[in-house]
Amino acid sequence: MAMTQSEQKELVAQTAIDTLIKKGLIFSGMKIGLGTGSTAVPAVKHLATRIKDGTVKDIKAVATSFGTQNLCEELGIPVYSMNDKAIGGHLDLAIDGADEVDPNNNVIKGGGAALLREKIVAYNSTQFVIVADSTKIVSTVGTKFPLPVEIIGEARVPVTAALNALGAKCVLREGVKKCGPVITDNCNQLLDITWEKPVDPCEMEDKINQIVGVVEVGFFTKNKPIVFTIDADCKVIER
Ligand code: A5P
Repeated sequence: MAMTQSEQKELVAQTAIDTLIKKGLIFSGMKIGLGTGSTAVPAVKHLATRIKDGTVKDIKAVATSFGTQNLCEELGIPVYSMNDKAIGGHLDLAIDGADEVDPNNNVIKGGGAALLREKIVAYNSTQFVIVADSTKIVSTVGTKFPLPVEIIGEARVPVTAALNALGAKCVLREGVKKCGPVITDNCNQLLDITWEKPVDPCEMEDKINQIVGVVEVGFFTKNKPIVFTIDADCKVIER
């Protein structure tokens, strides 16, 4: 029987948490990065259930957004900064959702405007894990979902010109129930970009990050994740 997208998110998130516990990648006393978005939410909630039932203990979490921090506080998961001595700038594992994932597990993130802290956490974790419903699996990243780029607002015009020179069209992300641009949790703005022709995400991650005024780009290609998703038979698969 076909599953809705939100049923897929729930199933993949819960199965990933239980599988990672069985494999010993989520363990008592660990430091974990917790992602943002509608697939990360059931993962965080399921982790809280496993903490409450005593399967894992003494978890220290770093949240990737105010939203996830609020959720952790509601669920009683202790939240730390990456800079806290207890975390020491490095995590054992980070788990997060994605907007697109290609066959090489290159990822686009940032649809929820949390890409900067998501990347800080993902790139400073021994193991990165993505949980994604089947709609997120694509053959080439960046051909459908616009690539989010977090920028310094004061640099919007020169950054746009530099991105145009790389073959990108840029749209400033506008707020909902807020006039003007979206302001991220880090007080920056966002451009959503589309390409004239497909690009190499690994190369483009580096090129975009070299533009003065770019804070971070939503291509995640450097710390390759384990990806949990759903196949055509509605089974969770890991790749
Ligand atoms: C947040 O900025 C994003 O990177 C999300 O992780 C991503 O957009 C996936 O979100 P959903 O799980 O809500 O689709």
